[in-house]
Amino acid sequence: MSDEFDAVVERVRKRVEPDDDERERLDAVADELRERASAAIDDLPVDADVVLVGSTARDTWLAGDRDIDLFVPFPPDIDREDLESYGLDVGHAVLPAGHEEYAEHPYVKGTYNGFDVDLVPCYAVADATAIQSAVDRTPFHTEYFRSRIDPALAGEVRVAKQFLTGIGVYGSDLRTRGFSGYLTELLVCQYGGFRAFVEDGEADLAFTDPLVVIDPTDPERNVAAVCSAEAVAHLQHDARDLLADPREGLFFPTEPDPVGAEAVCEAFERRGTTPVAVRFDAPDIVDDQLYPQLDRSLEGVTSELDRRGFDVLRAATWADESGVLFAELEVAERPAIERHEGPPVHVREHAEGFYEAYADGDPEDGTYGPFLDGNRYVVERPREFETAVGFLESDALFDVALGAHVESALESGYDVLAGEKVSELAEAFGVELASYLDPRP
Ligand code: UTP
Ligand code: MN
Repeated sequence: MSDEFDAVVERVRKRVEPDDDERERLDAVADELRERASAAIDDLPVDADVVLVGSTARDTWLAGDRDIDLFVPFPPDIDREDLESYGLDVGHAVLPAGHEEYAEHPYVKGTYNGFDVDLVPCYAVADATAIQSAVDRTPFHTEYFRSRIDPALAGEVRVAKQFLTGIGVYGSDLRTRGFSGYLTELLVCQYGGFRAFVEDGEADLAFTDPLVVIDPTDPERNVAAVCSAEAVAHLQHDARDLLADPREGLFFPTEPDPVGAEAVCEAFERRGTTPVAVRFDAPDIVDDQLYPQLDRSLEGVTSELDRRGFDVLRAATWADESGVLFAELEVAERPAIERHEGPPVHVREHAEGFYEAYADGDPEDGTYGPFLDGNRYVVERPREFETAVGFLESDALFDVALGAHVESALESGYDVLAGEKVSELAEAFGVELASYLDPRP
């Protein structure tokens, strides 16, 4: 087992190690960007540095990755507004085709000679505990690892990043909610290598829920703050799998074949469930806003479906040009009436109020009772929605908690697909549906 594990890791290590050519190209582009930034800083009324941070500064990037993170630390005494406007000036000067994105403050992102470049202003604070903005920590991370990551350990870090990528939990973006580059480096450093990370890490992780990893440059900060319990569980499962059966495929998985419309129909037919979907034009916002809003909206819609008696077996949300809130229902239709329990008769005030509210009800109009069941008043009254589709198509959909931009997207119109109609989704979301219909840990 040991030999096989080492052999697999060795092959992965070679595949993800950037070659000399790639390093030279990266160095040349980074130098050029640094010079352009320095020239732009010369035009400002304040002085600032330009520092390369992130994995390209630490030699822990994966071969083929084209991501350069450049930070511009400004004197800590300038105000936030100046920091932002100077930062954007430098960003636009360095990356003329760039666009603005927003983290804790705006910064410029763009491509340059085929590299994806982030140009981020920050404050040059004395140490990471004195940060004024969250990004101020970043240069300290690079400083911290300067003496701690040697080329051999950098190789281990790359293998770990590739493993986490392969199993789908690499990245601290709000879609993945997984392991950031810095977190991966800290863990591999702490365990001393990839093998110990999966062997001992797997066991340690069982006792840390949620995962807490203190930032050595700022003890106030949990580096694993966005890492979800599900990402940790994925890592545990796949670490066990890798140790039991070492194979390269876990590091470089192939995407499932997209499923076709007909297969989608057959699958739900076999399952005997009713799939429903709300489809709308995806709002034009960054992924870090979009995915949390989709998750929140899905939670809102599925809990309301459940509450109305349309039991949700499983649900998912997907997006490309359109956004989809998808739910697979165990119950898609309920009877015309619903049972509504009142208070016990001995609770006089409430009981009388309840009785009077329904006393005039008429079975012809769908209200039965009030009658007694045990010591309580009960009525059977018309149900607001007999079908899940009826609810989804109604304005009641807007009473559930939806992400703000998802709500406005729905206000401009949406489709409700149910039963066989959901097979239309196979065109845009064939891979997602394939995974949905063959779920794995
Ligand atoms: P990146 O997301 O580019 O990560 O953030 P990375 O370490 O360079 O890894 P890859 O190889 O590109 O995936 C750049 C730096 O910003 C800080 C870290 O110091 C990171 O190295 N950062 C980023 C954080 O502290 N937390 C985050 O959630 C993201
Ligand atoms: Mn990076």
